[in-house]
Formats: sequence, C-alpha cells, structure tokens
Amino acid sequence: MKDINGKVIWIIGCSSGIGFALAKELSELGAILILSARRENKLEDLNNNLGGNHLVCPVDVESHKSLINAVNIIKEIYPNIDSAIFLPAIYLPHDGNKKDIKIIHKMLSVNIGGAFNMVDVLLPIFEKQKFGQIILCASVAGYRGLPMGQPYCASKAAIISYAESLKTELEHKNIDVKVINPGFVRTPLTDKNDFPMPMIIEPDIAAKAIIRGIKSRVFEIHFPKKFTYIMKILHILPAPLYFFIMRIIQKFIKK
Ligand SMILES: NC(=O)c1ccc[n+]([C@@H]2O[C@H](COP(=O)([O-])OP(=O)(O)OC[C@H]3O[C@@H](n4cnc5c(N)ncnc54)[C@H](OP(=O)(O)O)[C@@H]3O)[C@@H](O)[C@H]2O)c1
Repeated sequence: MKDINGKVIWIIGCSSGIGFALAKELSELGAILILSARRENKLEDLNNNLGGNHLVCPVDVESHKSLINAVNIIKEIYPNIDSAIFLPAIYLPHDGNKKDIKIIHKMLSVNIGGAFNMVDVLLPIFEKQKFGQIILCASVAGYRGLPMGQPYCASKAAIISYAESLKTELEHKNIDVKVINPGFVRTPLTDKNDFPMPMIIEPDIAAKAIIRGIKSRVFEIHFPKKFTYIMKILHILPAPLYFFIMRIIQKFIKK
C-alpha cells in the first residue's frame, strides 16, 4: 500500500499502546479508520481526539461472533476494507514457576485464537473484493523460547508461523500479508515488567516504523533495528550455543 490517504484501515487493539499511537499517525496521513478493542470509552475518546470522523467498533477478538457483528456493521458503511491490523495480546510476566492454567489458556485464546477469528471473518471479504492486506502483530519474543517467556513466546511464535502460512496461501489472490515483530515499546503491556528493557522505544516511534512497513513490500516489519538484529542473531544460533547464552542471561536476571 503506497498511499495511506483515503484507505479504509481496521485497527484491532487501538484503545492503548502501539495501536493507539498507530491510529493517530494513520489518521494524520488521511486514512479512514475503524477503531476496535473492547473498551468503547477509550475508542470514543481516541476518535474525538482525531476529529470524530472514524468508526468506533468495539470487539472482543476471543469471540468469533463479536467479529462477525463488527464486520456486518463495517460492510454497511464501507464497500471495501483495504487493510486490517491485528494487535490484541495479553502478556503477563512469567517467573518460570507454575502458572494458573486458566490464565495460560486465556493468553493463547486472545493472542492466537483472536488472530484466527479475525482472519476467518475477513477472508471472504478480501476474496470478494479481490484485494486486501492482513497485518498480524507478533514479537521478537516469538523468534525463540526466551526464559520467563512462556506462554507469551509460544503465542508469538505461532503468530509468525501463521502469518508465513497465510502469505504463501494468499499472495496469488492479491492479499498482502505482513507480520510486525517489535522489540520493547513503552506501553501498558510492558509497564508490568520489572526487568531492564534494552533499547525500549516510545509508541509513536513504533507507529512510524509500522507505517513505513505498511507502505513497503516487506513481509516482516521489525524495530528498533539495533535490537531486532541482535534477536535475529539469537534466532539463527545452533541450539547448544543458544541455551548456553540463555543460562548466562538467566543468572543475570536472577541477581
Ligand atoms: N509493547 C511492547 O514492548 C511489545 C513488544 C512486542 C510485541 N508487542 C505486541 O504489540 C501488540 C500491542 O501491544 P501493546 O504493547 O500496545 O499493548 P497494550 O497497550 O496492552 O494494547 C493491547 C490492545 O489490545 C486490546 N485487546 C486486548 N484484549 C483484547 C480482546 N480480547 N479483544 C479486543 N481487543 C483486545 C486492548 O484493548 P482493550 O483492553 O480495550 O480490549 C489494547 O487496545 C501486542 O500484540 C503485543 O504482543 C508489544
């Protein structure tokens, strides 16, 4: 998508954090936005902040029905959707000890199940209009299993894999698929962390990097580059060397 101006872009997960900043940047570039998340009051505030011309459409991505309802509302107003960006995720810092299995299932349900729900309701529309863009947000935490990372890392690895499969299956249908792999971004999600977050960036910087990616032909949008390239090196290390480095990091974290 070379030009953002006038494009209908559905942002799911924009009541805070990266999605919130992305909505502001896209609105400034002239996009027509559909603003989604669960907290309607936050979405209304955001829309008012952006001039009130966008569509507020609350959804809970865990519910397939909620997304079907949303799509039916959107279709009434806009003949086409150019792009859909999936950002929702639950993250809880994991200390490596046993966790409530209900919380783990909830994380997997939102982070992975939510993405499948969104794609399921969008695909018929994109196939009918014969174009579209699907952008799923994963994380560099999905490159490898990190200490204290489960089940978040597992969910993000699944999203990367899912986006890769979708790209191979949909590119011949003129549907562009991309994945976003951020490093640390200062948002309510990372505010819970009590460990050092190297090279953390502000959400507006993340939003600008995402927009550069949306406008380009790249599959993977990753930032900040200095940090993500370090993570990419970890990604390609042979397993014995990777686990050796992780042992050292764990000792450092526990100090
Ligand atoms: N921040 C980072 O350092 C970082 C790094 C790597 C990847 N990421 C990824 O970036 C994405 C955005 O994260 P963020 O840092 O901006 O976190 P955030 O501020 O917590 O934003 C998460 C958004 O998802 C929405 N959401 C959560 N559950 C939902 C549900 N069931 N249905 C619909 N919307 C839901 C939240 O709104 P409601 O509560 O109103 O529903 C919120 O708008 C996530 O996928 C995250 O994993 C973040």
